[in-house]
Amino acid sequence: MMKKSNKRSSRAGLFIVLEGIDGSGKSTQAKLLARKLRSKGLEVLTLSEPTDGKWGQEIRQLSRVKDSLKPQGELDLFVWDRKENVAKNIKPALKSGKTVVLDRYFYSTLAYQGARGVPLKKIRELHKKFAPTPDVVFILDLPVTNGLKRIKDRAVIYRHFEDKDYLKKVRQVFLELKDPECVVIDGRPSAREIHRKIWAVLTGRFPNLK
Ligand code: ADP
Ligand code: TYD
Repeated sequence: MMKKSNKRSSRAGLFIVLEGIDGSGKSTQAKLLARKLRSKGLEVLTLSEPTDGKWGQEIRQLSRVKDSLKPQGELDLFVWDRKENVAKNIKPALKSGKTVVLDRYFYSTLAYQGARGVPLKKIRELHKKFAPTPDVVFILDLPVTNGLKRIKDRAVIYRHFEDKDYLKKVRQVFLELKDPECVVIDGRPSAREIHRKIWAVLTGRFPNLK
């Protein structure tokens, strides 16, 4: 059997991921970036994790209750949700030449479940077989209190993910990621300014986009 490659050469569209703590501006930047890419004539699919699929719904349901999930159970749910997203949405889109802009991916699992004590090596091992490496991962970075201030009016779900000390650990893991596709972006300026910076990095890496 031929070994399937997760390398960029085996697919046509770009695979771009946005990461960061809660309230860091990921979905805002995903929208701005998708709009910009479309204005350049690319076909873009925007996706987010956790998804709206059966595992994603279960994650949402369970995370309403504090401590309802042990780290291992939580890890399993995020990985199952992602497996489905990769197989059903991400891989087919990339294969057909679409560009995928994804709000959260396995770097979130490294940061959030890693911060709950799951070894990073174990999380990476779980993803190796099925999760394609993105072309670029933008990690929007800002202090936890700034992020929480931005989302204070958001519906009270995911509360156990939004604990301040926990998120400080999460932020730290994000900042320590050394993967070559990861680029840390200051998440404090205005959304327009951050968008300009993201676009500059992207076109620096992929000059054909200009
Ligand atoms: P995330 O998807 O990372 O949780 P959002 O994009 O939903 O973050 O942004 C959270 C809140 O902060 C939203 O109300 C959004 O309008 C606002 N916001 C997004 N980016 C910025 C920014 N650069 N400066 C100030 N507020 C922002
Ligand atoms: P999300 O819906 O992106 O929340 P937000 O819009 O507030 O950023 O994600 C929900 C929560 O799930 C978020 O607090 C981060 C957490 N999460 C993990 O713990 N592990 C993961 O692998 C993913 C994808 C998300």
